Amino acid sequence: MMQVIHHPQEMQAWSRAQTRSGATVGLVPTMGFFHEGHLSLMRTAASLCDFLVVSLFVNPTQFGPNEDLDRYPRDFERDIQLAEKEQVAVVFAPTPELMYPKGFQTEVQVRQLAAHLCGKSRPVHFAGVATVVSKLLNIVQPDVAVFGEKDFQQLAIVRRLVADLNLPVRIVGHPTVREKDGLAMSSRNANLDPANRAAALSLFTALQLAQAQAGQGQLSTAALTVLLEKHIHSFAGTTVDYVSFVNSETLEPIEVVDEWTVLALAVFVEGKAGKVRLIDNGFVLPRQRG
Ligand code: PAF
Repeated sequence: MMQVIHHPQEMQAWSRAQTRSGATVGLVPTMGFFHEGHLSLMRTAASLCDFLVVSLFVNPTQFGPNEDLDRYPRDFERDIQLAEKEQVAVVFAPTPELMYPKGFQTEVQVRQLAAHLCGKSRPVHFAGVATVVSKLLNIVQPDVAVFGEKDFQQLAIVRRLVADLNLPVRIVGHPTVREKDGLAMSSRNANLDPANRAAALSLFTALQLAQAQAGQGQLSTAALTVLLEKHIHSFAGTTVDYVSFVNSETLEPIEVVDEWTVLALAVFVEGKAGKVRLIDNGFVLPRQRG
């Protein structure tokens, strides 16, 4: 039977008991509103451990003052039902008060990696992520934790903090799960306007366009950026936040596409109630794949 645990201390005691008995524990950290992407992460994680913990916590500290914390989709009952169908031993669902009790004042900063890409338009986001992920890893004490590659920068930051803080956990990246038409699965897709869904596809088609162009020899990231911004803006109701070609490890911008180039995109799309910020990314190779 799957358990739901709300209290960090109880969660930690549960995990320590498993570990003491020789079992391995896995963690999939989430903010809920599960879709196939989350379920796929859970299946991968379950195959890597004896007991899987899924954390479900919409972390307020990773949202800026004008961001979508209030609009972030939530459905706790549905999430529990979906988790029950997977091999999940525990859903850890703390409240903000339990995670950030009165007097809380510690923050984890991964400085350079957090300064690029999403960090430019979301200045408090990654300190919030790094802090809550550190807390979740200390509370659940997993042997392995699985994160989606859609949040490419987040995954790089988590890998860095785990190495820098000597946390005894293996971090596994999981490939982005996509809808049939290529749209990267995201809880935020629930806030898209179905009438304007085409606009959300501007990201995936931009990734394809970049690969096609690079495959034909266009390796200048300045020229590619102009082309991609034009492509994205050709979809009604889109505003580019960034189109960035970066080194996959340092996340530093690069001028000429090479074997380690990742194209990262963030685009605002008109949604049901206000703009929805979507992200996507992919490797771009200087020659065609396959
Ligand atoms: O990727 C997410 O859903 C969140 O950023 C995470 C890792 C659960 C931290 O709140």
